[in-house]
Amino acid sequence: MESRKAFFSFMAALLLVLLSNAPASKSALSCSDALKDLRPCASYLMTGTGMPPAACCTGASALAVVANSTTDKQAACNCLQSAAKSVNVNFTLAKALPGNCGINLGFAIDPNMNCSTIS
Ligand SMILES: *[C@@H]1O[C@H](CO)[C@@H](O)[C@H](O)[C@H]1NC(C)=O
Ligand SMILES: *[C@@H]1O[C@H](CO)[C@@H](O)[C@H](O)[C@H]1NC(C)=O
Ligand SMILES: *[C@@H]1O[C@H](CO)[C@@H](O)[C@H](O)[C@H]1NC(C)=O
Repeated sequence: MESRKAFFSFMAALLLVLLSNAPASKSALSCSDALKDLRPCASYLMTGTGMPPAACCTGASALAVVANSTTDKQAACNCLQSAAKSVNVNFTLAKALPGNCGINLGFAIDPNMNCSTIS
């Protein structure tokens, strides 16, 4: 019984976090938005060679525009970093992506990047 109770308080806490995160601040960039912009980059970042596809650069540029404030950049950085770690991203390609697309994201997609140092 006790574990069932713990489970329910855990679920309640989780729900609270999800709900309070959702519309938190209108300007904060959501992780799903950031990943949506970079979706055309996914297969390139995992197994690509050479220059990124045009659709990928278009998405990355869109992300660079919306990830404009420090908080947005930090959010995007944290989001991309954990996403990149959970799939098999080639970080050589990921780090070179902004430069290859001729954009400045304001941060590197790097597993060792400390996202909280972005300003
Ligand atoms: C990552 O991409 C680079 C550049 O295409 C390539 O040289 C390297 O072998 C790739 N690394 C892995 C682990 O696939
Ligand atoms: C990015 O932020 C700066 C400063 O807040 C603002 O002047 C600029 O218009 C913004 N750029 C875009 C593309 O939203
Ligand atoms: C990242 O940087 C922040 C601020 O400088 C620091 O407090 C934190 O310990 C760092 N985290 C890691 C994992 O290095």
